[in-house]
Amino acid sequence: MAGKIPQQFIDDILSRTDIVELIDARVTLKKAGKDFQACCPFHGEKTPSFTVSQSKQFYHCFGCGAHGTAIGFLMEYDNLDFVEAIHELADTLSLEVPREDGGTQQRPSTNTKALFSLTGQANDFYQKQLREHPQKDKAVDYLKGRGLSGQIAKRFAIGFCADEWRAIQTALGSDEHLREQLVEVGLLIKKSANDYYDRFRHRIMFPIRDLRGRVIGFGGRVLSDDTPKYLNSPETPLFHKGKELYGFYEACQSNRNLSQVIVVEGYMDVVALAQHGITYAVATLGTATSGEHIERLFRKVDDIVFCFDGDRAGRDAAWRALENALPTLREGRQIRFLFLPDGEDPDTLVRKEGNERFNQRITQANTLSQYLFDHLSTDVDASSIDGRARLAEATKPLLKKLPQGTFQQMMIAELAQRTRIDVNLLSVDISGDTVKQTQINQRQQATITQRGPSLVRKAITVLLHRPNLVTAATDTSWLKDIDQAGIVLLLDLLELLRQQPHLSTGGILEHWRDTEHGRHLAKLAAQPALLESEALAAEWDDALTRLKSAASEAQLERLEERDRLGIANNDEKAELKRRYQELGQRKD
Ligand code: CTP
Ligand code: MN
Repeated sequence: MAGKIPQQFIDDILSRTDIVELIDARVTLKKAGKDFQACCPFHGEKTPSFTVSQSKQFYHCFGCGAHGTAIGFLMEYDNLDFVEAIHELADTLSLEVPREDGGTQQRPSTNTKALFSLTGQANDFYQKQLREHPQKDKAVDYLKGRGLSGQIAKRFAIGFCADEWRAIQTALGSDEHLREQLVEVGLLIKKSANDYYDRFRHRIMFPIRDLRGRVIGFGGRVLSDDTPKYLNSPETPLFHKGKELYGFYEACQSNRNLSQVIVVEGYMDVVALAQHGITYAVATLGTATSGEHIERLFRKVDDIVFCFDGDRAGRDAAWRALENALPTLREGRQIRFLFLPDGEDPDTLVRKEGNERFNQRITQANTLSQYLFDHLSTDVDASSIDGRARLAEATKPLLKKLPQGTFQQMMIAELAQRTRIDVNLLSVDISGDTVKQTQINQRQQATITQRGPSLVRKAITVLLHRPNLVTAATDTSWLKDIDQAGIVLLLDLLELLRQQPHLSTGGILEHWRDTEHGRHLAKLAAQPALLESEALAAEWDDALTRLKSAASEAQLERLEERDRLGIANNDEKAELKRRYQELGQRKD
């Protein structure tokens, strides 16, 4: 495993990248005041509300709320993950991406590019075979027999390989180096020196594409009753079976604002659903649904429906998926479970029942909590104390896997109701917190971003929009006397900017990517810049002055309290006296 990418390097490439240039190369921007604008690439609109700020190195859409840094934009627009986005920016700057352990970097090498080129060419070849090969009728008839139109076959880039042993080398070239690369991507098998043959023969070919549309591997289905029925690419530098999802690229292509996916088992299920207008199905590739699959999906959508066969194997698979999904369930994310009648799969069912009825099934899918409690209650007699205790014991370890937050609290409340155990007891047991404490925590969190502009929040906002104001605040050690929501964030922000006063708004955000700090700051950064620079500086002074008097008051209160309790030391007593003199009062 390569080490982490050093934060310093991320700061560095961000400071050398211009977000305006980067976005303009993909979405044409127009100057508007001191910012740049375009119609938002992330939602449909006719008048531009997508704004890019050069000074802040940050983009924001007032229409759909999309916002982020150069890295975030690449992740969203080019469908990259974080590391890929860093590599993309580094490439543009001709930089190598270092790793903290000084070890190897998983840089998409030129070799990888060559491999992608080969899978792409192979896919073109298979598609061409479906149109031109002398035996193509068998394949075309097979697909038609399964209810697929030419249009859907094209959308999924479905192809055909005939019953031949050397088709790929004949088509793509047979020099030694090339053939070794074809072995590397799993298309050829090496029998002996200089003797290679096609892995896929006499099959319908389903290309598996990454979110950028590049072919990473294939699934091939036999046309006859031969075995194995499905053959997949082996593990290759491009293809990791346990992580990939078939149909995800096509779902994203068909739905600009994809918000829901349905996870099914097979290639044919995905394609048949699309044929019937359900264009947002994806399939795991013959493996259990992993946490990684789920995280990948949740990066794009908030609502996942798992669709399983009603048989024993399907139920086992569903429960595995539930267990793997629990740690990913943050607020706003939803998972549901749809069980099909025994003997059916989505392909057979949608062809039998049609779009409307199938959609109805999706709408009626069980929520995760229904499914979880139903499943665990099956063999439990909830009318007996003993049964309820067993239900509690079986449920607790699962609820412990949920991230702390509202959803976990709701599940705990549900368990409390079903078992008639005190909710606070359960809560302490499961989340290490009482319900009350959690609510207080949440309320404090909320004040940072939601309540009227507190002073702390104002200070953070101003600083975030004009980071170099940090230089105007020399001593802020007194801030730690303030006991208000958000103060930790303000202190951390000041510390960061003291070390790096030249960070842009975007640079700050990347420091706290995927953290609580980062989420609060992103919300504040996405607010329109309220004031011009001059006024911002004045706002900053004002916020600091008022915070200082709040801190001084808080300190006075604490001194008084200690004095009253008789635990003030001499220094504190002297300070108290000084303070009273200052206030023109006398202490008796
Ligand atoms: N699968 C696989 N490798 C196998 C068997 C199955 O990867 N050797 C995966 C494929 O993604 C396949 C899915 O599991 O699409 C479902 O396989 P199966 O249950 O055999 O599907 P069927 O519905 O029987 O296939 P079809 O509809 O094509 O007859
Ligand atoms: Mn099937």
